Amino acid sequence: MQTAVTELFGIDYPILNAGMGRVALPEMVAAVCNAGGLGVLGAGSSPPEQTREMIREIRSRTNKPFGANCPLALPNGLENAKICLEEKIPVINYSMGRGDWICQAAHAYGGKVMASVTDTKLALKAQQHGCDAVIAAGHEAAGHAGTVTTFTLIPRLAELLDIPVIAAGGIANGSTLIAALALGAGGVSMGTRFWTTKEGPMHQGWKDKALELDVGDTLYSAKFDGIPCRQMDVPGARKMMDARVLNVWSVFQHSFQIAKELEIPWFRLALDTFKKGPKEIEGMMRMSQMLKSHTHTLNSGDTTKGFTTVGMSVGVVHDIPTIAELMERIMAEARDCQARLARNTLG
Ligand SMILES: Cc1cc2nc3c(=O)[nH]c(=O)nc-3n(C[C@H](O)[C@H](O)[C@H](O)COP(=O)(O)O)c2cc1C
Repeated sequence: MQTAVTELFGIDYPILNAGMGRVALPEMVAAVCNAGGLGVLGAGSSPPEQTREMIREIRSRTNKPFGANCPLALPNGLENAKICLEEKIPVINYSMGRGDWICQAAHAYGGKVMASVTDTKLALKAQQHGCDAVIAAGHEAAGHAGTVTTFTLIPRLAELLDIPVIAAGGIANGSTLIAALALGAGGVSMGTRFWTTKEGPMHQGWKDKALELDVGDTLYSAKFDGIPCRQMDVPGARKMMDARVLNVWSVFQHSFQIAKELEIPWFRLALDTFKKGPKEIEGMMRMSQMLKSHTHTLNSGDTTKGFTTVGMSVGVVHDIPTIAELMERIMAEARDCQARLARNTLG
């Protein structure tokens, strides 16, 4: 299947895994690349030297092109983007910030850059800043989803932009891949569908929980980390959403653990947070609770505590395959969907 996205990145299938922080690790990235897609590392807030090691591990597992996601507004985000440039990785995906300097530096060595966007304004800016593609996440998406649905955002961006659009949010099988391409996307990026695989590092208990959920079993709120965000509807997420006042003492205690995990001096983390202003401080405090939850989901299968990010597409996830099995199945479903479209036997 050839699209603007397969041509841009030199890959076989127009499928990317979302660069999920602490979830899209080298094993997952290499598996997606080796199965014909574009694997994207979730550099998240990882300590920069750890990001460098992960990039090198990906290179030891695959000789195919790959990418890395760097959320620029998060601690270590800018530093991780610089590591990606130093390592001259084939594709950099930035989110939560301005990336014209990344485009310039990546293009100088032949790298490609994609920005993650949730609306038309951000997408136009990304194109203006020199991006080669955008990943556009609709309201259905896990994590920081916008308010515009995939079904309306993608065709509008396809009209507006000269660069390829990669659709995210609500995509988890062959028919949703074909639907995204029909809307004008050149490829798709999937998060939920990729963490519910054998290679996903989340504890099995959370994968089993995902299989029980339907399309309506997510929560969307700014109460998780200050920016509207979609999470799995479990008791821990409801508790966080309903908390009017944060337990400042618990956040304070946990901040030492976060500073240690991110390898940032506690004093610098605290100073950077306090420089941002009252709304951002609350957001960062909430985010610290979210990070704590995500650590729990990696280490424990107890779904009565903690919570994790999941998109509405979780409702069409019914098994935990390997990534190779998943990619082949999605492509087979997509070909079947195309054939049914051609015969006009859909529905
Ligand atoms: C567990 C998880 C972690 C995520 N972490 C990030 C991240 O670190 N950076 C980012 O830009 N998006 C992140 N996302 C959002 C994805 O990039 C993407 O927009 C979303 O997964 C698409 O919706 P879907 O999950 O229904 O496929 C994450 C998503 C999930 C499920």
